Amino acid sequence: MDPGRTSHCCVVILAAGQGTRMRSRRAKVLHTVCGRPMIEYPVETALALAPEKIIVVVGHEADQVRKVLEAFPVEFVMQTKQRGTGHAAMQALSALSDFQGNVLVYYGDTILIPVEDLARLIRGRERTDADLALLTAWLEHPAGYGRIVRRDSKIERIVEESDAGPEEKEIKEVNPGIYCFRASSLREVLGCLSNKNVQAEYYLTDAVELLRKMGKKVVAVTSTGAENLLGVNTRVDLADTEKRIWLRRARQFMLEGVTILHPESFFASHRVTIGRDTLIYPNVVLEGTTEIGEGVTIFSNTRIVDSRIGAHVRILDSCLISESDIGAGTTVGPFAHLRAHSQIGAHCRVGNFVEVKKSKLGDKTKSAHLTYLGDAQIGKDVNIGAGTITCNYDGFTKNPTFIGDGAFIGSGSELVAPVRIGEGAYVAAGSTITEDVPPRSLGIARSQQANKEGWVEKKKKPQPAKANKK
Ligand code: UD1
Ligand code: CA
Repeated sequence: MDPGRTSHCCVVILAAGQGTRMRSRRAKVLHTVCGRPMIEYPVETALALAPEKIIVVVGHEADQVRKVLEAFPVEFVMQTKQRGTGHAAMQALSALSDFQGNVLVYYGDTILIPVEDLARLIRGRERTDADLALLTAWLEHPAGYGRIVRRDSKIERIVEESDAGPEEKEIKEVNPGIYCFRASSLREVLGCLSNKNVQAEYYLTDAVELLRKMGKKVVAVTSTGAENLLGVNTRVDLADTEKRIWLRRARQFMLEGVTILHPESFFASHRVTIGRDTLIYPNVVLEGTTEIGEGVTIFSNTRIVDSRIGAHVRILDSCLISESDIGAGTTVGPFAHLRAHSQIGAHCRVGNFVEVKKSKLGDKTKSAHLTYLGDAQIGKDVNIGAGTITCNYDGFTKNPTFIGDGAFIGSGSELVAPVRIGEGAYVAAGSTITEDVPPRSLGIARSQQANKEGWVEKKKKPQPAKANKK
């Protein structure tokens, strides 16, 4: 059996370049695309094919790229000097060793490639027994891409933009850079590349003409959707691609039963889940590993990071919630800030201008306005009045505040930690509490009021006229 006829494949992803056109200190494939490093996309596409091996060619910031892909079953090869895509592919040969079959080669900056296109490409090569099958795409504005030069409708060669003459530049059929080689032909042709071109680089694209000259077979498989095969070269391309991915995710959520009022301003990372009948207003960002329950409403201008939001929670406008849990039926915001390790129970109320950090609020506890709760363990059914502050920091360490079930903290209170307010206890409004309040007692710590009767009348008595200074 000809091993080239099996569907076995290896994938080679070229990701060694700096990405000069990004004008960045960071290697291009490390740039974040919709919440994850660019390089994860082409690797995930490859994984969907269940290949024998995925080889990633690294160079610029190789260590960081390796680190980012730590959890992926890929093999790395190093391209120390970036001497072109053909040269990058050469570095993968040793890792391919004597593999016989399909070798898919594509670029780390092409991140939306549909797996179906790759499968079609493999089938196309096998069906025609070609040495190379490559995808081509039609673009209204082909600038920047290698152009497909055909003669008698057959593909003849690829000419790079920088080497193209004016007529060739008119060609709208482009090379998206997605190739399926017969392994043996790849080995053979890479040995014949030269760098005699405008950029003095070894172009992988020259393989087309060289293979043909060697009497080998090259076929073109036309892609159905060019928009998924575009490379990311500049930050403008990056924004265009991100837009496509964000919208794709929004669409997916909508199909799963989420109402998104303005999909164009909805941004969800790939590790976000959202329950049915959740309603999302414009301008909402969901990052990291975030779980949103069923029937939740998230109003405008909110960002939620690495958090779990229970069913039927209402998040009113303009909240920032990170690394926190919110129980079912709770209302948060507007303008609330839940910082790391905040655990809000069910049917609570965390209202406007309330900041919570590393604190636990039991079920049905309410803190409706203008409050800071830090390092506090608060029971259930507690009422926290407006302007309450847990003074958790003494300049050296963070100290805890404990508030028992059913306690009532009057407005404008300062609870100087470490301090404990007992179950069912009251703190009088405006108190500065420095000592524990026993259960079911009243803690009051403010100066006594004195009323001075008639004071206003005395104050308003006519003053003797001042001498005219003029
Ligand atoms: C390349 C193609 C062009 C095609 C376009 C599609 C070549 C010569 N040109 O051009 O025909 O239309 O992609 O997007 O192949 N890389 C390395 N080592 C190198 C050089 C590049 O690993 O020495 C990697 C880069 O990291 C990148 C990929 O190869 O991920 C493509 O390189 P890039 O410079 O973006 O090529 P284009 O100019 O876009
Ligand atoms: Ca590119």
